[in-house]
Amino acid sequence: MSEFIAIISAKGGVGKTTASINVSMSLSHFGANTLLVDCDFTSANVGTSLGFPPNFKNLHGVLNKNYCVGEAMHQHSSGLKIIPGSISYDDIKNLEFENLHTLLSELTGPDYIVVDCPPGLTDEVTKIILAVDAVIIVTTPDLIAVTDTLKTLHMMKDLKKKVYGVIVNKKTDQQYEMTLENIKQFLETKILGAIPEDKHFLTSTYYKNPFVFVFPDRESSLEYKKIAADVMGKKYKGSAPLNNQELIF
Ligand SMILES: Nc1ncnc2c1ncn2[C@@H]1O[C@H](COP(=O)(O)OP(=O)(O)O)[C@@H](O)[C@H]1O
Ligand SMILES: [Mg+2]
Repeated sequence: MSEFIAIISAKGGVGKTTASINVSMSLSHFGANTLLVDCDFTSANVGTSLGFPPNFKNLHGVLNKNYCVGEAMHQHSSGLKIIPGSISYDDIKNLEFENLHTLLSELTGPDYIVVDCPPGLTDEVTKIILAVDAVIIVTTPDLIAVTDTLKTLHMMKDLKKKVYGVIVNKKTDQQYEMTLENIKQFLETKILGAIPEDKHFLTSTYYKNPFVFVFPDRESSLEYKKIAADVMGKKYKGSAPLNNQELIF
């Protein structure tokens, strides 16, 4: 059975899409059949980030019943499967969200289905969360984002939703940042990984490939691989290029 994992945050711009792409890519390279679905309907960036042409069949077309979900599933050169969203404004207008739950439940087959979410704790996001098995919350290490993360954790408790843990992204170790220890104490939740701020993320977007694919040996890639192994219930050790041999069981 597929495990659905939503990547969420109350605050925008913290790195959900980046995390969705790189966690999915790492899962895929560790041998898990993985599908990434872009559910950020008004700001769908996954397709553009991975070099899919704007006219590719997408989730919006499926929700608007223009074609079936299988037609909107594409394969990245890395092997990762993706259902992109539409980048067209016209497709956002009158989008039929009600089918989302049914549509996601039709996606059987992959081991993991990672869902990139819009920011916030809106009704739309709640619908997605109710349709998945578990969530990963992304935050940056500042008080505002971490406070929003605490609120998000309370919501997950209310919804009785499994939380894999928190990814702390764009860590710079500046004095004004919260330390990982502080964040862990404040949230009373597992920190899945800490991703340094790294300008090379823009380079990987330029190359239209996941960061872990373009820069497999940088610290951020090692952290993403550690997170993916954790999700798979494995332990990750090593700094070799991305491949199955890196997992220890
Ligand atoms: N660790 C990082 N270091 C530097 N830039 C990052 C990092 N993670 C994400 N970014 C950049 O931050 C911006 C917002 O990230 P994105 O994943 O789109 O956030 P969200 O989906 O939460 O809105 C993007 O330009 C992305 O390339
Ligand atoms: Mg995003």
